Amino acid sequence: MNLTLKIWRQKSRKDKGGFVEYKVSEISGHMSFLEMMDVLNEELIAKNEEPVVFDHDCREGICGSCSMFINGEAHGPDRGVTTCQLHMRKFKDGDKITIEPFRAKAFPVIKDLMVDRSSFDRIQQAGGYISVNTSGRPTDANSILIPKEDADLAMDAATCIGCGACVATCKNSSAMLFVGAKVSQYALLPQGKVEEKERVRNMVAQMDLEGFGACTNTGACEVECPKGISLDNIARMNRGFIGSWLLGE
Ligand code: SF4
Ligand code: FES
Repeated sequence: MNLTLKIWRQKSRKDKGGFVEYKVSEISGHMSFLEMMDVLNEELIAKNEEPVVFDHDCREGICGSCSMFINGEAHGPDRGVTTCQLHMRKFKDGDKITIEPFRAKAFPVIKDLMVDRSSFDRIQQAGGYISVNTSGRPTDANSILIPKEDADLAMDAATCIGCGACVATCKNSSAMLFVGAKVSQYALLPQGKVEEKERVRNMVAQMDLEGFGACTNTGACEVECPKGISLDNIARMNRGFIGSWLLGE
């Protein structure tokens, strides 16, 4: 395949940035999207030009770092995959592909396609943990029986990889799907009940502080989420948040 890539280049957070077009040739349909980007970067380096900066780590859909907007969709045109799992067979010879960073006030661009998603880390730090005594005589986790349905729902929520596609897709740059998943994965389990009230309040407060927008139930986040995180998690978080105030301090 021969392709034209229209890529967002931005030198730094303060730089205005803009699109630059590049040509790549002999791209195999078996390549991943990031391997195609590697081909471009090798050519740029050979020409003594600056390679395109993009985030990546695991390249197998686990770490959530390969965040790109491809032809107007977070992680590109496929469903249930991250950019590193997207195959070039989803495109055809002669295509022009527009590649942009995830855009949100709370995800400032670091350089080119790489954005700063440390706002997600700070939300996690605000409540994404449980306090258990692990010294002396810790209770074996398996001695606490958990209904299968709850365990399955908690596991589904825990599959969120913190990629930020939900934020990039949402017209309000809302992080409710991410925060809903993180709140739910603990709230559904007995070990997470102890700090349930503080957790939901603190994580929602940090989410607001970071500048994410409100949820208006459009549902685009669920469609674009590579891990199929359900909107039910947002509803569960909202119930927990309202309940935490109704029940008082
Ligand atoms: S909810 Fe989905 S889209 Fe949002 S950060 Fe988690 S995995 Fe990514
Ligand atoms: S590089 Fe880790 S999810 Fe894509």
